[in-house]
Amino acid sequence: MKKLILAGLVAVSSLTMAGSALAGDAVAGKAKSAACGGCHGFDGNSLIATYPKLAGQNEAYITKQVKDFKADSSRKNELMKGMVASLSDEDAADIGAYFQAQSISAAATFDESKIATGREIYKGGNMQAGIPACQACHGPKGSGTAGIGYPQLGGQYVDYTLAQLKAFKNGSRTNDDKELMRSIVAKMSDEDMVAVANYIASLK
Ligand code: HEC
Ligand code: HEC
Repeated sequence: MKKLILAGLVAVSSLTMAGSALAGDAVAGKAKSAACGGCHGFDGNSLIATYPKLAGQNEAYITKQVKDFKADSSRKNELMKGMVASLSDEDAADIGAYFQAQSISAAATFDESKIATGREIYKGGNMQAGIPACQACHGPKGSGTAGIGYPQLGGQYVDYTLAQLKAFKNGSRTNDDKELMRSIVAKMSDEDMVAVANYIASLK
């Protein structure tokens, strides 16, 4: 009986979600993501540090990034611009649903000596410098906040994470609504960014 009630609740909540946003179809997304696997890994676990892992990343975030690469203004990347040119909104949602359903592989390699400082920033920010705790939006384990599209970070490659922090800082990536990320990295030193990127890689 309890199971039936639960199943009913799940059905209702997924219907509500389908009404509010384009809900992707993970089965269709698997086929559509074949072209992405060469770089990101067929299950979203990329093997190369400059290609981000997409496994477990939330659909809302993936869909937004595809849109942004397509628009080629607030987030630019030549490789990705070509890859998303022919994707419809439905394709993006389907692919997003597929990758969201995959599990991220073991943590990426990281420098153990940076972890303590990285953890401090991630968990508590730096009040003096005005840096908020990353976990407030990205979650205590770096799994993100799916409903509102805050990205999963945990287990991501150090190189990729660091490149994005630098891109927000030097203004080459400006697709963060309300400058959420740009306002934070402006207050971070290079050492802070290296430390937190290593801590993020260690999260699982
Ligand atoms: C030739 C290699 C390559 C292929 C193939 C490729 N990508 Fe990418 N992708 C990249 C690179 C490189 C980046 C990082 C870009 C940057 O630094 O901003 C990226 C970034 C992304 C991101 C942003 C991830 C994040 O955490 O913000 C998404 C989403 C994405 N790709 C989706 C796709 C999809 C969907 C496909 C298939 C239709 C695809 N990619 C195919 C190389 C590739
Ligand atoms: C107030 C909420 C908030 C806080 C606090 C926050 N972030 Fe973010 N972060 C975001 C949002 C929203 C995005 C996605 C922007 C977009 O739409 O592309 C993001 C994106 C990122 C990305 C890019 C992810 C990717 O896959 O490309 C990294 C890396 C990141 N944040 C690291 C951090 C770190 C490190 C901290 C703490 C120092 C932090 N964030 C604090 C909201 C936040």
